[in-house]
Amino acid sequence: MVRPHRSPKGLFDPYYVPDKLLYRDREMSTVNGVYKDSFEDEYGVNCLVHGITGVGMTVFSRYFLTKLVPQQFNAHTVYVDAKHKDILEIISELNDKIHHETGKPITVAFDLDVLWMQFKRTATATDRRTVFVVDNIDETNEEVYKKLARLSKEINASTIGVLNSHEYRMLTKGPATQMAYDFEIPLDIYTQSQLYDIVRTRVEDTFPLGLTEEVVRYITDLVVEFDASKPKTTVEALKALWPLAARGQEIDSDAVRSATASITTFAHDNDYMDLIDTISMNDFMTLLVLEALCEHLVHYKTETYIDRGTLNELIVIKCEELGVKYVAEDIDRSLQTLIFQSIVFESGYSRNLLYVLAPPDILYEAAVGLRRELARRK
Ligand SMILES: Nc1ncnc2c1ncn2[C@@H]1O[C@H](COP(=O)(O)OP(=O)(O)OP(=O)(O)O)[C@@H](O)[C@H]1O
Ligand SMILES: [Mg+2]
Repeated sequence: MVRPHRSPKGLFDPYYVPDKLLYRDREMSTVNGVYKDSFEDEYGVNCLVHGITGVGMTVFSRYFLTKLVPQQFNAHTVYVDAKHKDILEIISELNDKIHHETGKPITVAFDLDVLWMQFKRTATATDRRTVFVVDNIDETNEEVYKKLARLSKEINASTIGVLNSHEYRMLTKGPATQMAYDFEIPLDIYTQSQLYDIVRTRVEDTFPLGLTEEVVRYITDLVVEFDASKPKTTVEALKALWPLAARGQEIDSDAVRSATASITTFAHDNDYMDLIDTISMNDFMTLLVLEALCEHLVHYKTETYIDRGTLNELIVIKCEELGVKYVAEDIDRSLQTLIFQSIVFESGYSRNLLYVLAPPDILYEAAVGLRRELARRK
């Protein structure tokens, strides 16, 4: 596919809407169907979009609002991000935007009731219907959404309220505050291969020279393993890598590890050296396996994985060098130990691909040191 226009906007603009929203066809056609009916029969509908934070709620609602609504319905569209805004700011913004949409002059006001009245009057008097999106609904602003949802019923407008799973549970399950909505669209997390496609597409849209498939896979593996497959975390990682790539720097596994450090820090908390120490007190073979694996990753910085076949060949050579008997079952067991202890990880794409989370040079030094010590003691 020709992508003449690559721009970092796709990473740095939080309201960016990609040309294609991947793997949301079913949810999108549900929303679309419901709003289509409401337009044809002239009534207002209120919908809640929710999911775990970072799953793609904002982009979902904005895709519908900015791409589908203008294509299909002759409607006004208003998007307000309520995050970190007080009630007055949210209502002012609704008011500004509806006046802007309808081309009506606005009278300056700072009073909540006056602003709401102005908003209500203009929203009611439009020649066309309106779709409102209020993003990031929470405890502090749910009243505004409720008010808007109620108004929308009166004036045959429609709303989409967007909120994360936590707020959703709080606001809709509490008996006191039942939120006003007609239907909901839960957004599920993506599978590994879906997330991979999302990351790859975003790379193609934004990185001047792209990134290697290994790097895209590695980012996806880490986010699936450590951060619930959130596309947002992958985009954060790409944001950290973009300036390096733009300077012409080669993106190697070290760069990816540092770009994703925020999600893997908890894994670093338990001291790797302690861990290696315990598993390996009398386990020469496990240390040797770790050594061979890390040596390869240190040597080939741009390779983010080692496959089991290559690892095996390296171990055979090491065994020969050290005059140790090669026993396939021992190697398997050692590798299982390392995986079980979360020092080595299997890729979600293929069990054949192995990666590490700690810098391989540190693991390598530790493994070699301990192995030598063990050899001396014997
Ligand atoms: N299906 C998808 N196709 C393409 N890009 C996607 C898709 N889903 C999410 N993204 C991208 O993932 C990133 C995060 O999405 P978004 O900002 O919508 O998450 P969110 O759920 O609103 O997060 P928050 O909890 O922070 O509000 C964005 O860059 C978005 O474009
Ligand atoms: Mg959002």
